[in-house]
Amino acid sequence: MKSVDDFRLMFGKKEIVPIIVGGMGVDISTAQLALETARLGGIGHISDAMVPDVCDKRFKTTYVKDKTKFYKLNIPNSDKSIVQFDLGLLAEATKLHVAATMEAKRGDGLIFVNCMEKLTMNAPRDTLRVRMASALGAGIDGITLSAGLHLGSFSLIEDHPRFRDAKLGIIVSSVRALQIFLRKNARLNRLPDYIVVEGPLAGGHLGFGADWAQYDLATIVAEIAQYLKTEHLEIPVVAAGGIFTGSDAVSFLENGASAVQVATRFTVADECGLPDKVKQEYFKASEQDIEVNNLSPTGYPMRMLKSSPAIGSGIRPGCESYGYLLDGNGHCAYITSYNREIAKHPDGKNISVKDKTCLCTHMSNMNCWTCGHYTYRLKDTTHRLADGSYMTLSAEHIFKDYQYSTDQKICLPDLDLQ
Ligand SMILES: Cc1cc2nc3c(=O)[nH]c(=O)nc-3n(C[C@H](O)[C@H](O)[C@H](O)COP(=O)(O)O)c2cc1C
Repeated sequence: MKSVDDFRLMFGKKEIVPIIVGGMGVDISTAQLALETARLGGIGHISDAMVPDVCDKRFKTTYVKDKTKFYKLNIPNSDKSIVQFDLGLLAEATKLHVAATMEAKRGDGLIFVNCMEKLTMNAPRDTLRVRMASALGAGIDGITLSAGLHLGSFSLIEDHPRFRDAKLGIIVSSVRALQIFLRKNARLNRLPDYIVVEGPLAGGHLGFGADWAQYDLATIVAEIAQYLKTEHLEIPVVAAGGIFTGSDAVSFLENGASAVQVATRFTVADECGLPDKVKQEYFKASEQDIEVNNLSPTGYPMRMLKSSPAIGSGIRPGCESYGYLLDGNGHCAYITSYNREIAKHPDGKNISVKDKTCLCTHMSNMNCWTCGHYTYRLKDTTHRLADGSYMTLSAEHIFKDYQYSTDQKICLPDLDLQ
């Protein structure tokens, strides 16, 4: 019986353990988690979502405080179009986060950055160009383009000296999205180095509509593998979404995938950025405690725990401090919903916004508990302790469980380690 360790992801002559820990925005996939993954020979992701905020917490910088101070007078104003990112500071923050991570890297694996196009930041092209170019300049091994179609993203960095040497990958959820991407980028003569195919059971934003439950990852992976074969394109395909055990991973590796991307199992790792009490919420969750909703202002469905404090919260939009979801005209769907509720309750008291959430503020405060479909199985991956809490696991334990386990088994952690 095969285990994941019988397979390797090949990038040219470089051999990688075919386990990629996916990006989990706003520092849920921390540098420590990515570093452990790389040390063990796989690929780890950091995320560049809200990177100034992440830097403030990681390096004690003051980007958010300074931006809030700069735009303070605009806070009562519902028109947020003047709230812009300083591109120099954005580059500085990205470099800080990426360079510190890359300097600490050990082992044979790689570290990529997850870059979401839907963080439009009131100037989509300029900010995305700066984010990607700064990450490349700071030595990132690769960039995974996610949450958005990214039709013009490669061209934003085509003049960068590392455009052809760094690994560039895209996340798609259908063969059609891949076809459009390849067609739009044909001019650049630069194919993606890998394609992550993310199915409907993933965490974070989903690349599906309300009918997400009708799709099946294995079918989409097979369609994409077939399409690539027909087009004579040799691009590694990475399956993602709902791969919970080493055996699940092996079945994808035996059926055309070159690697798997996983995340949910790592949300309860010691190295994961979620606060300990939130990790316990993930452990405790039952299947009924998880929903896919339309609260994200990005317009994409998102999976989360129903008990997330972000749901129904009516806080004032935090655009002067954050503003990552402002489109190119300074709009965010949460502002519209919030203003509607304020019009109903002009005293501003007891405001609850039910149809959208202020994702920036709630992600910064770790109050939006996005998670994968199989979060309810996390309790089966560990021990319940005498005080009723669940024992968190090391990233190394989870990684090796994926790498070596067979027969749908999940290896529980050593109780002596608690
Ligand atoms: C807590 C959490 C946060 C996530 N955030 C992001 C993100 O910011 N960007 C992204 O592209 N994918 C995100 N994802 C998706 C993962 O990177 C990954 O592709 C997917 O969840 C894999 O499926 P699994 O969680 O069932 O293993 C997130 C997943 C989780 C569980």
